[in-house]
Amino acid sequence: MPNLIVVNRDGSEATVEAKAGNSVMEAIRDNGYDELLALCGGCCSCATCHIYVDPAFAGQMPKMTEDENDLLDSSDHRNEQSRLSCQIRMSDALDGLRVTIAPED
Ligand code: FES
Repeated sequence: MPNLIVVNRDGSEATVEAKAGNSVMEAIRDNGYDELLALCGGCCSCATCHIYVDPAFAGQMPKMTEDENDLLDSSDHRNEQSRLSCQIRMSDALDGLRVTIAPED
């Protein structure tokens, strides 16, 4: 199982196990983080699963869809590392991926 490093809003960092094929959002939620609301359940319509992806992994991220891009535009905290965590699937290639839960909008 690939590892995922999660940085919480308070700055604390932890390594959790993610199931390959599950989204980063599911991996975060299944490991007990309640900061990530993920209100729409992963169907790319809420933007409450906003994370920042470590730039070291930027080249391995899936291409952003127009829907994801539009939703991220609704966030006051968007930056060049912003992604919606429900749109990124974990895989062995992403072992060690480091993400930070973005501030709440
Ligand atoms: S969980 Fe709603 S957009 Fe990701």
